[in-house]
Amino acid sequence: MQGIYKPLWLKNNGDLEVIDQRYLPFEKKTRVLKTASDACEAIKDMTVRGAGVIGNVAAFGVYLAAREFDADIAKIKEASAMIRASRPTAVNLMWAVDRMLAHIRHSSDVVNDCKREAIAIADEDVLRTQKIGAFGCDMIEQIMADNKLKTFNILTHCNAGWLAILDSGSALAPMYEAQKRGIDIHVWVDETRPRNQGASLTSWELLDAGIPHTIIPDNTGGHLMQHGQVDMVITGADRVAANGDAANKIGTYLKALAAKDNGVPFYIALPINTFDFDCENGVRDIEIEMRSEDEVHMMQGMNKRGDVECVRITPEGSKAINYGFDITPARLITGLITEMGVISPNKEAILKLKGLSTPT
Ligand code: MRU
Repeated sequence: MQGIYKPLWLKNNGDLEVIDQRYLPFEKKTRVLKTASDACEAIKDMTVRGAGVIGNVAAFGVYLAAREFDADIAKIKEASAMIRASRPTAVNLMWAVDRMLAHIRHSSDVVNDCKREAIAIADEDVLRTQKIGAFGCDMIEQIMADNKLKTFNILTHCNAGWLAILDSGSALAPMYEAQKRGIDIHVWVDETRPRNQGASLTSWELLDAGIPHTIIPDNTGGHLMQHGQVDMVITGADRVAANGDAANKIGTYLKALAAKDNGVPFYIALPINTFDFDCENGVRDIEIEMRSEDEVHMMQGMNKRGDVECVRITPEGSKAINYGFDITPARLITGLITEMGVISPNKEAILKLKGLSTPT
């Protein structure tokens, strides 16, 4: 591969071009990132989002820094620290920056080595998500066989598709694989307030792929589960601690509680670089990003004239609070779908993955 992936690609002149996810599903615009600051800004303002893609833009951001600062290591380190701090919860960001810096420690060709390593990380992610898709789909087939199901209803939260992690997604990878295998699936898509990653992005991806799906308000999942309309929940993750506690988009925890109460299997799909092996207790220790309250007050949509606009939906003067993520405790998670197979969410199984490299 030459650094070309679905949500981002290297241009011939070495700039990084990304799909600007802020405009989806209405417009497919792109944005060109030329400098480390551009990469940092794109992560912060959510031009790009999703744990995996944040990591990739961070890695390419280190390459952009190397190019911009003519391989000056001190300046590259300074820019890398800025990129590393651009969002706090998704650990792929820190993992990618650290790997890039470790790689160039003894390099005599810093710019090209940075470029090669950022591409290597991205290529590995492509492979990881394919494997996650295959293992997750095996799981789907098993649950279908155990329960003699003809159609399979999966609920997902936020967007963990190829817009979020190259190039098949994490939570959506088993769904793409199921489609390839000719399995009859239907996806319940949580809208995912306040930024609506489900309503805007997951639905856009599934529509494009021709996978049957229905967008539901965030509060609908429990009702569907009570009435036997959800066979499995699969979400992605932004960071999973060594004890199996999983950080993912705010609202994931409530879905896991409802799944437990209704005996619905609840799976988290993630590549190994989303584990934080040094974090012992996710509920206690994972930092939760606080975002602007404006995201709660305002909604973006298309008006009847076809113009995209932002409107306020709350009274002026009311306060709002906007936690970006929550933690689903390990005890509510049935299994973790990784590129190495499906494992139990406990320390023993998780620590066995530490230090393993991507299967080829
Ligand atoms: O705030 P976002 O849109 O970056 O949050 C994304 C999520 O929570 C995804 O579910 C998560 O990154 C898993 S997909 C790799």
